[in-house]
Amino acid sequence: MNNPKIRMGMVGGAEGAFIGAIHRIAARLDGLIDLVAGSFSSNPALTEKTAAMLGIDSCRSYDTYQQMFIEETKLPVDQRIDFVVIVTPNHLHFPIAKLAIESGFHVLSDKPATLNLQEALSLKLSLDNSDCLYGLTHTYTGYPMIKEAKYRISQGEIGTIRKVIVEYSQGWLCDTEDEQVKQAQWRLDPKQAGISCCIADIGVHAANLTEYVSGLEISSLCADLNHVVPGRTLDDDGTVLLRFNNDSKGVLLASQVALGEENNLSLRIYGDKASLEWNQMEPNSLWLKSHNAPTTLLRAGVGLISEAAQNSLRAPAGHPEGYLEAFANIYVNFANQINAKKAGKTATNEEFDVPGIKDAIRGMAFIENAVAASKEETKWHSFKIG
Ligand SMILES: NC(=O)c1ccc[n+]([C@@H]2O[C@H](COP(=O)([O-])OP(=O)(O)OC[C@H]3O[C@@H](n4cnc5c(N)ncnc54)[C@H](O)[C@@H]3O)[C@@H](O)[C@H]2O)c1
Repeated sequence: MNNPKIRMGMVGGAEGAFIGAIHRIAARLDGLIDLVAGSFSSNPALTEKTAAMLGIDSCRSYDTYQQMFIEETKLPVDQRIDFVVIVTPNHLHFPIAKLAIESGFHVLSDKPATLNLQEALSLKLSLDNSDCLYGLTHTYTGYPMIKEAKYRISQGEIGTIRKVIVEYSQGWLCDTEDEQVKQAQWRLDPKQAGISCCIADIGVHAANLTEYVSGLEISSLCADLNHVVPGRTLDDDGTVLLRFNNDSKGVLLASQVALGEENNLSLRIYGDKASLEWNQMEPNSLWLKSHNAPTTLLRAGVGLISEAAQNSLRAPAGHPEGYLEAFANIYVNFANQINAKKAGKTATNEEFDVPGIKDAIRGMAFIENAVAASKEETKWHSFKIG
């Protein structure tokens, strides 16, 4: 018998919001999930308008997320939401996730997981005391050729990793005028964004992607975060030197003031046998480079690619798949994880390839460590000649 559709509730993502709409497309893409309820805004009229636009039953359009959890738990188990997706500004991720878990709902949260590390650790305790699943939408882990790179590294194809260079450069916050945009306003406000803008918004994606693909963990770092545009209290640019748990080194560059850049996320991993390079704006290509053989362009859907990459594709080679499909891959995996859980299986995040609470904690630790390290001056040595 086919599994019934997974029922999703959404918090945030009202008309005019950015990522909520992307989540809705991704959730729908494979037909496993229905959006049946929501509290889309702190403004009840906007929630109502958004619910009407999306064709959601008006009695399941809720003025607050608290009300949503109370009312949904009153519904029969086979009608109430199975999980909630959180697409609000950062400061609300923790209270919403915590209450959802206490109300018995699985959680899919956007990143950064919480406002600070303490909240992420506390969320783990809530999860440990519950039967709920937790997923974190580190979007870039959903790309097929990222899964290919991860697979090849796990099989030893590039040998021992010696160096990682990851860059996430954007230019959309390069001017004070850009701060009029709603998405910019809360990202630059410490009360809503936390202690960082650039590192919490995109640096955390770069750190997560590095660890996901390489299988390594960041063990120490040296950070230089900047406030390039005058008047900002949070970083809009940063460089972080990384050391990994295999003693290899890395560099992480993140910037939101890199004028002219779109979403220039790139990853280069150098091993002692070969190296891999991937670029988000050309996501279906993965370059394999070595010392004594021609450089190879590996393409999504062409030739012998891993099962993990092949299963993450929907169309024949050459029909471009991208950001939306990468997002959808996280949704498919999370839906499968929920179905396994419903069937009484253990259903771990690792097994279903869904970023989870471990990534949440490591992400928040990365942000806090980078901000703290950046305030330290002692790591810098003056450039001496003679
Ligand atoms: N995974 C990714 O690649 C990715 C990309 C962009 C944003 N994000 C994350 O997604 C989150 C949202 O970012 P955005 O750019 O869409 O922001 P946004 O400002 O466009 O949207 C935020 C939404 O939350 C709603 N909201 C605020 N308070 C609320 C409340 N109390 N109850 C219900 N809804 C409420 C707002 O009305 C708005 O609709 C952020 O945490 C951001 O870091 C992730």
